[in-house]
Amino acid sequence: PVPVITIDGPSGAGKGTVTQMLARRLGWHLLDSGALYRLTALAAVRQGVPFDDEPGLVRVAASLDVRFEPTPAGGPVRVILAGEDVTAEVRTESAGDNASKVAVIQAVRDALLQRQRDFRQAPGLVADGRDMGTVVFPDAPTKIFLTASAEERAQRRYRQLKDAGLSVNIDALLDEIRARDDRDMNRSAAPLKPADDAQVIDSTGLGIEEVLGKVMAAAGQ
Ligand code: CDP
Repeated sequence: PVPVITIDGPSGAGKGTVTQMLARRLGWHLLDSGALYRLTALAAVRQGVPFDDEPGLVRVAASLDVRFEPTPAGGPVRVILAGEDVTAEVRTESAGDNASKVAVIQAVRDALLQRQRDFRQAPGLVADGRDMGTVVFPDAPTKIFLTASAEERAQRRYRQLKDAGLSVNIDALLDEIRARDDRDMNRSAAPLKPADDAQVIDSTGLGIEEVLGKVMAAAGQ
């Protein structure tokens, strides 16, 4: 079978960056599973489907018309929803928050399952999410659970948003991170937790290269 490295963990632990760097270094495909939940929420808002309309959300998830287009210079992948570039919109804090609301619905998760598995193509896949090792790729030979303290994750997000020219309040970010952790860990559908055979890496106080080194070592690369 095509090899998979799964990278799961809470919001802001650095999974996205590590996944991108690792996929580029190995020349493997990348799955940003969070984007599918973000896109489901975004498409639902656009189609006027409320977040308490389960059958409606399942329809939206099952019929998502999305393309992920790599940019030539190796920059961030462009996200195209029904022909429209939503790359920036899909990364906003509110899209992430809305994603975690639709992600509690088991039938929505089921509707996105095969679409995620289809990303498993030669020569290999690096998959970023919450349930990559527990549900989507339970047979993955390498499973990483990447975590960091809530304070550090809030700090990182704060710097990211500040660099993007946005003014934000660090305490509000910390509250949001804690609320998202709570929702992701305490839901009944695929709650966030390390797979039994996952290697847990705590990135608190580590730079991105150090984290990448640890992940590569865990993957035997
Ligand atoms: O980077 P950040 O954690 O802010 O966002 P993300 O990874 O794009 O995930 C957004 C939300 O989607 C998470 O808070 C989860 O509730 C949900 N999600 C999920 O349930 N399962 C996944 N495999 C990926 C994301």
